[in-house]
Amino acid sequence: MNVRPDFSKNRNMAETAPAFLSVWDMHSYYGESYIVQGISFNVHEGEILALLGRNGAGKTTTLRSIARMDDPQVNHGEIWLDHQPLHKMTSYEASTAGLGLVPEDRRIIPGLTVEENLQLAQIAPPIGWSIERLYDLFPRLGERRKQEGVTLSGGEQQMLSIARALARDVKVLLLDEPYEGLAPVIVDEIEKTLRHIKEQGMTTILVEQNAIRALQLADRAIILDTGSIVFDGSAEEVLENDSLRAEYLAI
Ligand SMILES: Nc1ncnc2c1ncn2[C@@H]1O[C@H](COP(=O)(O)OP(=O)(O)O)[C@@H](O)[C@H]1O
Ligand SMILES: [Mg+2]
Repeated sequence: MNVRPDFSKNRNMAETAPAFLSVWDMHSYYGESYIVQGISFNVHEGEILALLGRNGAGKTTTLRSIARMDDPQVNHGEIWLDHQPLHKMTSYEASTAGLGLVPEDRRIIPGLTVEENLQLAQIAPPIGWSIERLYDLFPRLGERRKQEGVTLSGGEQQMLSIARALARDVKVLLLDEPYEGLAPVIVDEIEKTLRHIKEQGMTTILVEQNAIRALQLADRAIILDTGSIVFDGSAEEVLENDSLRAEYLAI
């Protein structure tokens, strides 16, 4: 078990990090509230990293920090994506650099069809996944291409939200609780699609309350506890370690 990777001798991540996405000593605040308390981790190209921890541990804050959202404020640290310094970027620039955040609330744009939601996400000329390729990936979306996005079921909205991220030229997908509130059969469908996306080489960070399901899909796992990393290792290690799961995941 590798607790708290030590990057102290490795300040210049751009030169030394073999990882695709590197977070180094990141500290994040909401106003005066100190939430993410100096975390460092790497995500390798093509892997799925499960980011786990109890409610309020700081998972969403971590994803929003990496995506450079206005809230929270990241006041220290470096974030590198494929040799690009995300920590110097706005959220729009980070998204153009290949960061695809799929937020918990899905944010489907009202008044637009499924297809218009996807078209709007594509940068011109389209260099991400083509809309036809996205319909192959999510046949339900193809069948409902003319339907208004907000009238889709919860599971279909989640699929649209993921498809929309892929429609950009995304290099890393950050998924915030994609299974939340969905029936097990829909979760199966989304999980199958995430496996398929991984086979195409996608790099993914998966935040999930359903830790067992996330660990079954993930290569590696990080566990957060009150804004600090308490575990960084393989997904199997967490599945096999009952006391670790009981202590930090309450399962
Ligand atoms: N917008 C906000 N303003 C102030 N505090 C927040 C805000 N969002 C989250 N927090 C606090 O930050 C901590 C971590 O929250 P969050 O990252 O959402 O946790 P998780 O996603 O792991 O459940 C919690 O204590 C939460 O109350
Ligand atoms: Mg959250």
